[in-house]
Amino acid sequence: MLWKNHLISVDQFNVEEIQSLFFSNSMIDGFTFPRKKIAILFYEPSTRTSASFQSAAHDLDCKIISINGVEYSSVAKGETLHDTVLTLAQYVDLIILRHPDSEAAAYAASISPVPIINAGCGNGEHPTQGLLDLFTIQKHFQNWNKFTDMRITFFGDLLNSRTVHSSVKLIALYDNASNYINYVAPLSLQIPLSLKGLVPDVYIYPEQIENVLPYTDVLYVTRVQKERGSVAEYSLTHEQLNMLPENSIVMHPFPRPDGEIPISFDSDPRAKYFEQIKNGVYIRTAILYEMLKVNVLSKEM
Ligand code: CP
Repeated sequence: MLWKNHLISVDQFNVEEIQSLFFSNSMIDGFTFPRKKIAILFYEPSTRTSASFQSAAHDLDCKIISINGVEYSSVAKGETLHDTVLTLAQYVDLIILRHPDSEAAAYAASISPVPIINAGCGNGEHPTQGLLDLFTIQKHFQNWNKFTDMRITFFGDLLNSRTVHSSVKLIALYDNASNYINYVAPLSLQIPLSLKGLVPDVYIYPEQIENVLPYTDVLYVTRVQKERGSVAEYSLTHEQLNMLPENSIVMHPFPRPDGEIPISFDSDPRAKYFEQIKNGVYIRTAILYEMLKVNVLSKEM
């Protein structure tokens, strides 16, 4: 399935398509879609994905129909995902879906007459987050079109973090001969076996993280996904983060409910998580633009 028809997984991309998306002319050619409507259909809480997609839709002059809390929709009366998607498809030109079931977006795409975007489903994937994460790394290191000489440390709940899963799959698309990944996680929250070995990698216990921090270019921290049954307690101190090289970056998809990165580190030039959040609007605007252009304009012509 082409990603411009339904964006369900980063598996739908190759390197050329990713780089073309990153340099999409959405921000410069001023083309907008004032007659188009987009539904935000979120079965799980969200601040960044929801708000950044809405900001992107506003930038493209689209109208938004938002069901951000399904507890106030007919889902509370027992309506199925099938019926909710087919209902919204009567009103809008594209549906952005977040759901606790990792297969929900693929299922929605299989029944929906309008494009579906996976905005994070279960502990599977969060493809638009993976794309904005990759963009953030390539932008900082000016590593466009390639991904080389990178030492990446993923730290935290790697089992249930869908943002990590999408990011690892995207990195794996590049020639990784000069890259490696440190997976630092409690034993019960290790990266899924299906993702292990996609990039040269090593498993490290959280107590050993200080051994790898001085040799890390990208530190990517993720929270404990309590809503998916993960149990752990971990955090990094400002002193530990100071062990990172000067030109390294620290990323986190947020939220950071357990202080896994101290607020005192936010003003450090290596703290890139708010820039990462901002990049979400740029990437999601490009995604909406490309999908609306293909799916909406072709039908109107
Ligand atoms: N990164 C991310 O998915 O954040 P939200 O849950 O706030 O959308």
